Amino acid sequence: MANTVLIGAQWGDEGKGKIIDVLTEKVDWVVRYQGGSNAGHTVEIGSERYVLHLVPSGILRPGTRNVIGNGVVVDPLALVKELGDLEQRGVNLAGRFFLSDRAHLVMPYHSLLDASREQAASAKTKIGTTKRGIGPTYGDKAARTGLRAGDLLDELFPDLLKRRVEEANRVLGAWGEAPLDYARLLADCQAATAKLAPYITDAIPLLNEAIARNESVLFEGAQGTMLDIDFGTYPFVTSSSATAGGACTGAGVAPHRIDRVIGVVKAYTTRVGEGPFPTELTDATGELIRKIGHEFGATTGRPRRCGWFDVVVARYSAMLNGIDAWALTKLDVLDAMPVIKICTAYECAGQRLTSVPANIRQLERCTPVYEDFPGWQCKTTEATSFAELPAGAQAYVRRLEELTGVKVGILSVGPRRASTMQLWPLAG
Ligand code: GDP
Ligand code: IMO
Ligand code: MG
Repeated sequence: MANTVLIGAQWGDEGKGKIIDVLTEKVDWVVRYQGGSNAGHTVEIGSERYVLHLVPSGILRPGTRNVIGNGVVVDPLALVKELGDLEQRGVNLAGRFFLSDRAHLVMPYHSLLDASREQAASAKTKIGTTKRGIGPTYGDKAARTGLRAGDLLDELFPDLLKRRVEEANRVLGAWGEAPLDYARLLADCQAATAKLAPYITDAIPLLNEAIARNESVLFEGAQGTMLDIDFGTYPFVTSSSATAGGACTGAGVAPHRIDRVIGVVKAYTTRVGEGPFPTELTDATGELIRKIGHEFGATTGRPRRCGWFDVVVARYSAMLNGIDAWALTKLDVLDAMPVIKICTAYECAGQRLTSVPANIRQLERCTPVYEDFPGWQCKTTEATSFAELPAGAQAYVRRLEELTGVKVGILSVGPRRASTMQLWPLAG
C-alpha cells in the first residue's frame, strides 16, 4: 500500500481508529504524528474493544510496526499504563513499538496548568479541554523550555527536570496550586524510563529507511481539521497541526513521500468541548443521534454535541488536506431518521457563505442552510456491498460526494472490521 495520511475532517472522533485498523491489514508502519493522550481511538475486534490514546492503532495488527513521532506530546506515565494494559491483553510490543526521542513530554505540571486555566476561565472562554496537559506542553515546546523523550535517557535528566519543576512551581503558585514534589516526580519519571527506554529511538532514519525499502506507512491523525491550531475554530481548538501537513513535521518525512490523503468523516457531525458548531442540534433529534451513535467521549466520557453533516466544513477540510477519498463512517446511525438534513452553506448577516470564516464571532452568527433528504428508515448494518444498501442510503452517499467534490472510498456501517465496504479502489 502507498504512504497514506489519514486525518479527521471534522471535530475529531470521526472513527479514525476503526478505519486505521481496517487499513492496517496491508500496511507495514503506523505513525502517530501529533496530539497526545487527548485522543481516544476506538478499535473493535470481535468482542474485544480497545481505546488507544497514545499508541498507534496499528498495534493491534501483529504484522505492523508502530511509531510515536516527534510531533506527539507524550505523558510518560500515561504511556506506561497504556503499554502495560496492551501487554496484559496479549499484545506483543517487542520490535513493534517505537517512541521518537524528539517527542515532547507532558509532565504533571502541564496537566495541572491545563486544568487550572480551564477552571479559572469564564463560561464563554473555557475551551473544554481534555485536561491532559496538551496546550501547556506544546506551549513549552514553542517556548523552547520543554523536555523530550530522549532527555529521559540523559544523565542530566534530574537537573533538567529540577529546573523545569522550579519554574513550574512558581507558575502553579500564581494559579493557587500546591507545588509539585520534585523528588517524587523524578522517581516516577525514572520508573517510567525503566519501562520506556527500550522503545526510545531516533525515529527519523527508522521511518525514512523503511520508506526507502518500499515499506508502506500510514500516518494516523488525531483530533480533526476543525480542531487544528491554525485552521480550526481558534481558540476553541487543540494545540497541534491535526491537518495532513502535520504528518511531515510530526514524523520527519518529506512531503513528496506521501502518496495520498484519506479524510474520515461521519455521516453527521459531532463535537466535544466548547466552541462554535453551526449544525448543532440541541433538540430531541440531537439527543437521538447521541444515543444511537453512542456519542460519548472515548477519553473523557463527556457527551458529544451532535448535528447534521456540514458540507462547508467538509469542503474546507478537503481543500486544506488535499483529500483524495473520504472514509465515511457511522452511516448506520442515521438508519431510523425520517428526514436527514445536509448543510450546504451558511447564512450570516444576509450573506451566504460557502467557506469557513476565520472569525469565530462571525461563525457563531452563522445559521446553516439545509437541504432536506428523505431517510431510508431501514437497516444498513448488514450490508456488505454498496448495492445491498437501501436506495435512499446509496443516494445520500452519492449526494455527499457531489456536494463535497470528493468520492467515498471507504464506507463504514458499524464499529467492527466486517462492517466496512471499499467503494472506490484506493490505488497502490
Ligand atoms: P476516533 O477518535 O476518530 O478514532 O473515533 P472514536 O473512537 O473516538 O469514536 C468513534 C466511535 O464510533 C467508536 O466508538 C467506534 O467504535 C464507533 N464507530 C466507528 N465506525 C462506526 C460505524 O460505522 N458505525 C457505528 N455505529 N459506530 C462506528
Ligand atoms: P480524537 O483523536 C474530539 C477537543 C477537546 C477540546 C479541544 C482542546 O479522539 O478524535 P485539548 O485537550 O486537546 O487541549 O482540548 O479539543 N479534543 C478532541 N475532540 N476528539 C479528539 O481526539 C480530541 N482531542 C481534543 O474536547 O474541545
Ligand atoms: Mg476519539
